[in-house]
Amino acid sequence: MNQDIERVLYTEQELAHTVRYLGQQISTDYRDKNLLLVSVLKGAVVFMTDLMRAITIPCVIDFMAVSSYSGTKSRGEVQILKDLGMSLEGYDVLIVEDILDSGRTLHYLMGVLAQRRPKSISICTLFDKPDARVEPVHADYVGMIVPNEFIVGYGLDYNEKYRNLPYIGILKPEIYGG
Ligand code: IMP
Ligand code: MG
Repeated sequence: MNQDIERVLYTEQELAHTVRYLGQQISTDYRDKNLLLVSVLKGAVVFMTDLMRAITIPCVIDFMAVSSYSGTKSRGEVQILKDLGMSLEGYDVLIVEDILDSGRTLHYLMGVLAQRRPKSISICTLFDKPDARVEPVHADYVGMIVPNEFIVGYGLDYNEKYRNLPYIGILKPEIYGG
């Protein structure tokens, strides 16, 4: 285990099981639709690549990047750093996110993407921290409800580190202190 990790919250096997289950649900619900998976860089990349392989119906993918708050309580605008490369018209868009926290990022994204006339727009998040919610965002697919603690691994970072851990862990307190 990584020496900065205090404990493992979800193992690689538990994550794989959850992602497979989400993939099955989405494959059933979207079987007669025109599925476009939109992933938010960078945190959702690991989840996205596993989820798309757990989906058994035809789908297309695209990526976008938005500015993050990185710990501040700012209420400023979310900014698009990298936009999608395709039109959403005619697609049933499913936003693939790593974690739904305050909801500010997804609240903003839903507003922006809804203006682009997709056939439908829904949210799939691997993790949901409902206790941290500031904006009223509801995810249609949720992998796991997590406590209001900072988690890393499986794409999620602390200061850009730990994204490559194959499990989800909680950092030792001294890592935040230093
Ligand atoms: P929101 O706009 O507050 O919902 O923030 C969502 C983003 O904050 C996520 O996409 C993550 O990048 C980041 N984030 C929120 N909670 C955590 C966490 O526990 N670990 C790592 N990143 C987090
Ligand atoms: Mg993110």
